[in-house]
Amino acid sequence: MNVRDSEHMIAQLNKEENYNLTNNPKDADLILINTCSVRERPVQKLFSEIGQFNKQKKKDAKIGVCGCTASHLGDEIIKRAPYVDFVLGARNVSKITQVLNQKRAVEVDINYDESNYTFGDFRTSPYKASINISIGCDKQCSFCIVPHTRGEEISIPPDLIVNEAKKAAKSGAKEIFLLGQNVNNYGKNFSKSEKKIDFSDLLEMISEIDQVKRVRFTSPHPLHMDDKFLNVFAKNPKICKSMHMPLQSGSSEILKQMKRGYTKEWFLNRAKKLRELVPNVRISTDIIVGFPGESEEDFKQTLEVIKEVKFDQIFSFKYSPRPLTKAATFENQVDPNIASQRLKKLQDLHTAMIDEIVENEIGKVYEVYFDEVKSDGFIAGRSDNNYMILTKATESLLGKILPVKITQARRTALYADLL
Ligand code: 5AD
Ligand code: SF4
Repeated sequence: MNVRDSEHMIAQLNKEENYNLTNNPKDADLILINTCSVRERPVQKLFSEIGQFNKQKKKDAKIGVCGCTASHLGDEIIKRAPYVDFVLGARNVSKITQVLNQKRAVEVDINYDESNYTFGDFRTSPYKASINISIGCDKQCSFCIVPHTRGEEISIPPDLIVNEAKKAAKSGAKEIFLLGQNVNNYGKNFSKSEKKIDFSDLLEMISEIDQVKRVRFTSPHPLHMDDKFLNVFAKNPKICKSMHMPLQSGSSEILKQMKRGYTKEWFLNRAKKLRELVPNVRISTDIIVGFPGESEEDFKQTLEVIKEVKFDQIFSFKYSPRPLTKAATFENQVDPNIASQRLKKLQDLHTAMIDEIVENEIGKVYEVYFDEVKSDGFIAGRSDNNYMILTKATESLLGKILPVKITQARRTALYADLL
């Protein structure tokens, strides 16, 4: 989401100002720091990072703090770091050129009307295009700060999304990556469009574009994984067969406290159905350990769900109390040392499972969309089910979808020969 927001800002700057990109802060006339506030650590790092940039930068260079921490801390950022020139919230990225030319501007309005949300023309990769389909989130999970930083959920009208996808595909992007905090809730809150369509309909519409060969999306919510969605996902050959299913906890009691809206049984039922419909699907998840009130028994249930679903990838986090969230006020906070022990146990279990899963990939054939140059003469791409696959080849492979045979398996990537 932040990468796409950065693309939006760069596009606006290209359109209305005269900037080129540089990776060297010493050369920059403008330094933008796009921030996350989901957990506390990145927020702590922010101020030391701004201090570093302030020391390195050219005399008249401006510093802007953007993204979710900008939304959440607002003018406090300028009070703590007076050399920051402006603060631009996650929902206000299209206003970058306005705040740039004001003195000490703080633009963090989450009620901003997204009906005139502008799509920027800048893309980091010519091969893949990320497209926002909804902004914000109405879910109010008790641990999550996002509804406070990205505001109420609004779906972007389908005709804008389809036009954007067509434009990107025409310029060479064979893969479209649909983005939203809660993609499969799409269509519940249109800001303007009269047409009533849901996420499954949108997936079908994007897939109808000839030059689009692959469609991905993130993040879906397990609660909205109804049969229609799973069937469209299974049957449409252009929809890539990797699904993110953020579990958060395997205990129904903790899920209730988290306000996730589903039970362990619902989650297991959806994962089972998905594996039945799409045998080669890879399922990834997010898990929080040490949520307030999590007992050993609750944690054990999380481990059991991991064993049962056999997740192909897990992003696991220690619970981090966030300002403005309900869970931060709960009294039964878990000892951080116990949470760390649980995190390690979970990660060890999953590492052993992954070793077994990837070992089975050797000898298999995958179609890979090559899009990245790696070091040592390797070109990388993704299989339909989202393995990163590397092969020794020249850059002429970039932008092509080709079959390969897996020769070696690592935890984070597979190695293959072209067929
Ligand atoms: N503490 C730890 N992890 C969190 N996440 C969201 N909020 C918190 C928090 N307060 C995790 C969730 C979410 C992912 C993006 O970040 O697992 O799915
Ligand atoms: Fe946060 Fe829950 Fe919304 Fe995801 S669905 S962004 S975890 S409130």
